[in-house]
Amino acid sequence: MTRSKVFVTRTIPAAGLDLIRAACDVDLWPDELPPPRAALIERVRGVDGLLCLLTDPVDAAVMDAAGPGLRVISNHAVGFDNIDVAAATARGIPVGNTPGILTDATADFAFALLMAAARRVAEGDRFVRAGRWRTWGPELLLGPDVHGATLGLIGFGRIGQAVARRAAGFEMRILYFDPTAPAADPALRAEAVNLETLLREADFVSLHVPLTPQTRGLLNRETLALMKPGAILINTARGPVVDPAALAEALREGRLFAAALDVTDPEPIPPDSPLLTLDNCLIVPHIASASIATRRKMSLMAAQNLIAGLQGEPLPHCVNPEAYR
Ligand code: DGY
Repeated sequence: MTRSKVFVTRTIPAAGLDLIRAACDVDLWPDELPPPRAALIERVRGVDGLLCLLTDPVDAAVMDAAGPGLRVISNHAVGFDNIDVAAATARGIPVGNTPGILTDATADFAFALLMAAARRVAEGDRFVRAGRWRTWGPELLLGPDVHGATLGLIGFGRIGQAVARRAAGFEMRILYFDPTAPAADPALRAEAVNLETLLREADFVSLHVPLTPQTRGLLNRETLALMKPGAILINTARGPVVDPAALAEALREGRLFAAALDVTDPEPIPPDSPLLTLDNCLIVPHIASASIATRRKMSLMAAQNLIAGLQGEPLPHCVNPEAYR
């Protein structure tokens, strides 16, 4: 029996890669950086399946280069804004993602960023390493309290709610804005409000929405201006949800106390980005889900989606079930 041919666009944790290798003939892109577009187009020709990352734009041209044999696209991420899902659906190709398993790791990290931005952890570390720590100072590196503050969650799906559970331990008042969220668990004691109320009242605003045409640029010059003076913005969702120029302006002018970004627009952040010049902007390289166990589970789930698609079975986690109709 001939084995399916798949292209895997980067080395993923062994748990998932071994599963794929046991079932398929694998062409693996070995570099640390993603395949450039021309290479992606070249390497997908004639494959039955594609396992890609959030760094790989997979559009109609990529699908057409693969040809009519392409039976499944499996994204090694919960977000799938890198894939033209409508184009996949039109071609009857199911697209898989990795929901659920990275919820807690991402919520842990959003809270780590929130704490670090408020209590100036990265700045403190830079201060010490620069040899500037001369004495204990009554007004050295002061920041706002986290406990008892108001947290505004934009997006109240799995990850937003997991952040709310952590915030409850810090006795925070929790507001959320999410027109699509089902009724919240009353145990969370979270209050649904409109976007303007959330921005005006929250001391911390944390983003947990997917990137869609509706959320692109949601935090822009106008909406950032509604934020409470001295508030802190945390983004572990997708970079383009925030306008970087408007954010830099709000941080430079001291209207916001700080921002903590796991994601930027674009990624990686350009070396000349004004955000990199600001001490009150903490930036890390899209690592919110990067716990060892979580990345292992993501690789397994992505592999299971890929193999199910190749075998003509429904994907365990499919973002476009309408592709089967
Ligand atoms: C995702 O999965 O969408 C995250 O951004 C990376 O883990």
